[in-house]
Amino acid sequence: MANASMGFGAGKVILVGEHAVVHGAPAIAAGIRRGVSSIARPAGTDSLHVEPWGKTWRPNAKSVEPLERAFEHILSRYAERPRLRLVVRVTLPPGAGLGCSAAMGVSLIDAIDKALGIRRSRAELGALALKWERFFHGNPSGIDNLTSALGGVLYYRRSSPPRTISPRGSLFLVVAHSGQRSNTKEMVARVSQRLARHPDWARHALDEVHTLAMDAETAIGSGDLAALGDILNRNHEILRSFNLSTLRLEELCREARSAGALGAKITGAGGGGCMVALAAEAEHAYRIASALAAETFVEEVRRAA
Ligand code: PMV
Repeated sequence: MANASMGFGAGKVILVGEHAVVHGAPAIAAGIRRGVSSIARPAGTDSLHVEPWGKTWRPNAKSVEPLERAFEHILSRYAERPRLRLVVRVTLPPGAGLGCSAAMGVSLIDAIDKALGIRRSRAELGALALKWERFFHGNPSGIDNLTSALGGVLYYRRSSPPRTISPRGSLFLVVAHSGQRSNTKEMVARVSQRLARHPDWARHALDEVHTLAMDAETAIGSGDLAALGDILNRNHEILRSFNLSTLRLEELCREARSAGALGAKITGAGGGGCMVALAAEAEHAYRIASALAAETFVEEVRRAA
C-alpha cells in the first residue's frame, strides 16, 4: 500500500439549469480550479481531518452529523483495507453553491482508491460520489459529483450519461459570494413545494429551462457569448420566480451587469451563496470583479484537455 496518496475533486459553477435538473430538465455546469484535495495514509484509527476548519470526524453510521455518516458509508464500501487517516484541504467556501460537499466526496474516494491501488474511471468515481452526496442533500441530481470528477463543461440530464461540451473559445466567468450561506436541501424543498402547489406554472418554467440549456449548449459550442449572456439573465429570472434569490444576490447581478457583464445569475441552490457573471474576455472579467463589493474570483473555463 502506498504511504500517502492524494485525491482531488473540483468545485463547479452551474451556468444553466440548477434545480430544474433535479426534476428532469438538462443543466450545464463547468468544473473550476478551486476544489478539495485529500491525502489518505494508513493510521491506527479511521479519521477525517478538514484543514481550514480545524475539525476531525470519525466514521459513525448513527451520528447526527451527515459528514460522519457519509464517511462511514464510503469506508464501508471497501471490503478489506487498513485503517486510514484522511486529511482534506478545502479551497471552496461551503454552502456557496460551488459544490463543496460533492468535491469532498470525489476527493476522498479518489485518495482512498489510490491508497488501496484501486483503479476506477473518473466517471465511475463521480457516480460513486453521488452516494456520498445523498447524505447531505437528500435528492441530488448528480450534476455536482459528476462535474467535480470529470471537470470541463458538461451537459447533464438525470439518468443519462453527461456530455462534454467543447467551448469555441474560453469562457471568462466572475464568481461573487453574497456572504450569505446557501442551504441546498431547503432550497430544493422550496422548489418541490412550488411544483406541487402550482404544477402547470412550474412545468412551464422547467420546459423553458430545458430550452435554455439546449440553446446554451449551442451558444457555448459556437462561441456566441451575447446569446449565452442572455440565457444566463433569463435563467436568473426563472430562479427568482421560484423565490431563490436574495436582495444581496439581486444587487450583485445588477452591479455585474452595470459593469458590462453579458449576463449574470444565481449559481447553485440560491437563497444565498454565489452569483456567476459572464465577461466578454479576461480583462473585462477582472474589471467586473473589481467593480463588485464582494469576495470574488475569476475563472477561465476552456475546452477540456
Ligand atoms: O448549491 P449546490 O452546490 O449544492 O448545487 C445544487 C444544485 C441543485 O441543482 C440545486 C441541486 C442538484 O442536486 O442538482
